[in-house]
Amino acid sequence: MKTSFSAESSFSAAAPAQKYTRVAVLLHWSIALLMLGNVALGLTAALLPDGTLSDENIRFVIDTHKSIGITVLGLAILRVLWRLTHRPPPLPAEFPMWERAAAHAAHIALYVLIFAMPLTGWLHDSAWVAAASHPMYLFGLFQWPRIGFIMNLDAATKDQLHEQFGALHTACSYALYGVLALHVAGALKHQWIDRHSVLRRMMP
Ligand code: HEM
Repeated sequence: MKTSFSAESSFSAAAPAQKYTRVAVLLHWSIALLMLGNVALGLTAALLPDGTLSDENIRFVIDTHKSIGITVLGLAILRVLWRLTHRPPPLPAEFPMWERAAAHAAHIALYVLIFAMPLTGWLHDSAWVAAASHPMYLFGLFQWPRIGFIMNLDAATKDQLHEQFGALHTACSYALYGVLALHVAGALKHQWIDRHSVLRRMMP
């Protein structure tokens, strides 16, 4: 039976190939922190009573949310390019088949959601009838474009799409909470119950 000591020592002696690259670690944690921050900002904006969004302080919350979301989209593109050119370290051979399959499925779902969250948010924002009179500035630095073909639709269609993309953005956020909970639970199970850390491979 494996003791926590033997698991520790086998890991500290791990070859470099047992860890993610520095770039992968940096992209993983920056995307994770920015997405968590954006969930907090998005929920703050969504929970406010109707009408308060025109308040200048509240606008700051939602404008920052949009800027962080677009940043996540850029980082997600970099991350996929990095992932396609750098193989991640394999999961430890002693993990049962079902756990490997579950981890793999959660990772694919997270990749999909890392793109789906910013894209549905951007679509939702582009369909906002007041988008043309409220340009979006990325962190107040320069104007960020809305999606042109949506902006050019008539007001009634935009209103309808605004609602539908908003509902899709919210649905994706619920999926994110679920998959993220499984992902974190898996990492903590290996850390504390199995005493075979995989978290360490993703640490700087
Ligand atoms: C990392 C990416 C993103 C995450 C994790 C995220 C998360 C969220 C969450 C959790 C909500 C609240 C949903 C609810 O419970 O109803 C929300 C709302 C919203 N998000 Fe995002 N979002 C992201 C990107 C974006 C982007 C890129 C835009 C626009 C360019 C955007 C625009 C909005 C808007 C307009 C709302 C509605 C706020 C309101 O109720 O008035 N989001 N987002």
